[in-house]
Amino acid sequence: MAKQITIIGTGYVGLTTGACLAYLGHQVVCIDTNVEKIAELNSGICPIYEKGLPDLLAKGLETERLSFSDTADTKLLQNEFIFLCLPTPQAEDGRAELSAIYEVAESLKSFLSSKAIVVNKSTVPVGTCKVISQIIGREDIDIVSNPEFLREGSAIEDFLKPDRIIIGANAIEASDRVAELYSNLESPIIQVDWASAETVKYATNSFLAMKVSFVNALAAVCEAVGADIELVAKGLGTDNRIGSKFLQPGPGWGGSCFPKDMQALVRLASDSGYKFELLEAVVDANAQQFKRIAEKVEKAVGKSLEGVHVAVLGLTFKAGTDDIRNSPAIAVSKLLSELGAQLNFYDPLVESLPEELSDGIVHDSAEKAVTNTEVIVILTEWPEFKDLDWIKFQRIAKSSKIVDARNLLNPQTLRDIGFEYASLGRK
Ligand SMILES: NC(=O)c1ccc[n+]([C@@H]2O[C@H](COP(=O)([O-])OP(=O)(O)OC[C@H]3O[C@@H](n4cnc5c(N)ncnc54)[C@H](O)[C@@H]3O)[C@@H](O)[C@H]2O)c1
Repeated sequence: MAKQITIIGTGYVGLTTGACLAYLGHQVVCIDTNVEKIAELNSGICPIYEKGLPDLLAKGLETERLSFSDTADTKLLQNEFIFLCLPTPQAEDGRAELSAIYEVAESLKSFLSSKAIVVNKSTVPVGTCKVISQIIGREDIDIVSNPEFLREGSAIEDFLKPDRIIIGANAIEASDRVAELYSNLESPIIQVDWASAETVKYATNSFLAMKVSFVNALAAVCEAVGADIELVAKGLGTDNRIGSKFLQPGPGWGGSCFPKDMQALVRLASDSGYKFELLEAVVDANAQQFKRIAEKVEKAVGKSLEGVHVAVLGLTFKAGTDDIRNSPAIAVSKLLSELGAQLNFYDPLVESLPEELSDGIVHDSAEKAVTNTEVIVILTEWPEFKDLDWIKFQRIAKSSKIVDARNLLNPQTLRDIGFEYASLGRK
């Protein structure tokens, strides 16, 4: 049965959740304090790059199941379900910054209708649902934890076909009512308590980051011992207990979630009396990986990078998204810039550079970015980079060197064209 839902926070998670819940037949209003974003959405413009989202947005607006508001009108807070999809960035001490969640909980508590459920989708440390419940302080309102596992770049598919849906609640009736919202999906629903639901989300992201760091380290070992990481990853990933996903080496993990969630779990553990040394080592290993890529570039050039023109292909934290938050491409580029390199960027979806790279130049084509540079560095795995005119690039670049930090291109093809080609852990 169609339910009335209010989403507070219309970013990657809130907008995807809103558009998908409307697609599933519910009546959804999404609220955000960003007035321009809401104006864009109301006129059918999708503010983020996400495959399939513009279509769902258009459908939602057309069927009037989806609407947007820049004010938390009290009427909009009287819906049966209030989803919190608010930012939980990393605070200076590594903990999650929860002020947006707590302020919103405070501001809506007196307007909620009796029997409403507040569903938290933001990634939060254990204990947050309990605090939300204390702030709201009403026995007729339930709080439910429903962490989100979508990946940018495949957010719609991940939302509509998730591996599982986690619902954490204190009361089974509230848990069942939230489960009912997803009754059209075929995915397993795992009903747990607040603390377990909150922990699953951090555990998932930390585990995946650890897997990436593991394969990055393994690629370094392969280089040293003469093994090939692609063959090793294949042999490893076909083991059902391990699985083949997240076994591609790269410049390190990043994005808006992994780094902050990793730090938050480390802090959560130490606040609770456990020193999570394993995860601390993974955080260090990731910082080392950025350095390792910068060193590979230096080695490829064969001299100091001072004044050397470098082409950087890719700025987003992965392909399929326009998100550059905590992008490994930016972390590595920053190191190259500190070593004196003059950076020329191209990314299919990025037109301007973050402040820390403001010395660089962003070009509107890969061809312009590589012209007259001494080395080309691939930092994001955009599939279209495979189809670039590498024969022409070999001519227009000042010297024929590539560091492919995503193992995206075929080494033999590039060497046949005349490039000196380096990648990660491949023969
Ligand atoms: N991005 C992802 O891939 C992803 C995946 C799973 C979980 N998460 C988690 O979901 C949460 C949201 O992440 P996101 O990527 O959607 O963030 P985001 O920054 O894209 O979106 C957050 C939105 O909330 C709005 N906002 C801030 N304060 C507000 C307020 N008081 N009232 C109304 N709107 C307000 C902002 O304007 C912004 O549009 C975070 O906890 C994140 O860790 C993110």
